[in-house]
Amino acid sequence: MSDLVVVDGLRKSFRDTEVLRGVRFRVAEGSVTVIIGPSGSGKTTVLRSLNALETPDAGVLTVGDVTIDFGAGRPSRAELARFRAQSAMVFQSHNLFPHLTVLRNVTEGPIVVQRRPAAEAQAQARELLAQVGLADHAERYPYQLSGGQQQRVGIARALALRPKVILFDEPTSALDPELVGDVLTVMKDLAAQGATMVVVTHEIAFARQVADQVLFVDGGTVVEAGTPDEVIGSPKQPRTREFLRRILDPLAGSAEAG
Ligand SMILES: Nc1ncnc2c1ncn2[C@@H]1O[C@H](COP(=O)(O)OP(=O)(O)O)[C@@H](O)[C@H]1O
Ligand SMILES: [Mg+2]
Repeated sequence: MSDLVVVDGLRKSFRDTEVLRGVRFRVAEGSVTVIIGPSGSGKTTVLRSLNALETPDAGVLTVGDVTIDFGAGRPSRAELARFRAQSAMVFQSHNLFPHLTVLRNVTEGPIVVQRRPAAEAQAQARELLAQVGLADHAERYPYQLSGGQQQRVGIARALALRPKVILFDEPTSALDPELVGDVLTVMKDLAAQGATMVVVTHEIAFARQVADQVLFVDGGTVVEAGTPDEVIGSPKQPRTREFLRRILDPLAGSAEAG
């Protein structure tokens, strides 16, 4: 299968701090990439770069049908818009429009941004809400839903844009533990249907079961990459081992953390 995401030499600084220092990886069509790594290592900035929510300082990025060389001068707004339209993001939380019903949250992008016919967008939204187990919740408002249900609406909303690649930024980390499973199940089903996904998560069991590729990011670079068995099962890099040891047993070695 061809690659739907190719990232090479991705660099990004915020003021004087270089946050991404030459990130590279590829994502095959229909595959799931899980990105793990410590807080502040640049995971969100990688995803935001793929969705053009941040403009990289350098790097050649391909998402879907669009390639931009960010080192070759400022891309035009039209070019950035075309690049952004290749992917859709599912955020950690608090991203639904509170004053719109669940259905309107899902149809807003297709109707307003993509200018698709309302009837078609609504029919699609109902199908997607059924797919994430929320067929009966279309007329509710976000505040009437649990956090897990809100995240599933967030996934339906991303899918409604028909992206080539779906980007998830810690989609379960703001949820009560008992609500995590429903969201991960929806994501697992999506993967089984062949969606191309890049997922930042600390859910190691999900990574082991669903990921085709795991990237360990630290200090703004991909320190280790491979299959879940390689990166999680037998990590080669000391930094990967140390990170996994800490998240798998948060009480272990906290004295030497730093
Ligand atoms: N808009 C921003 N302005 C300044 N610093 C930022 C901004 N976004 C992220 N950073 C910094 O970049 C680093 C990486 O952030 P982030 O990509 O969010 O990491 P992660 O998602 O791995 O926790 C952090 O030190 C963070 O404070
Ligand atoms: Mg983050």
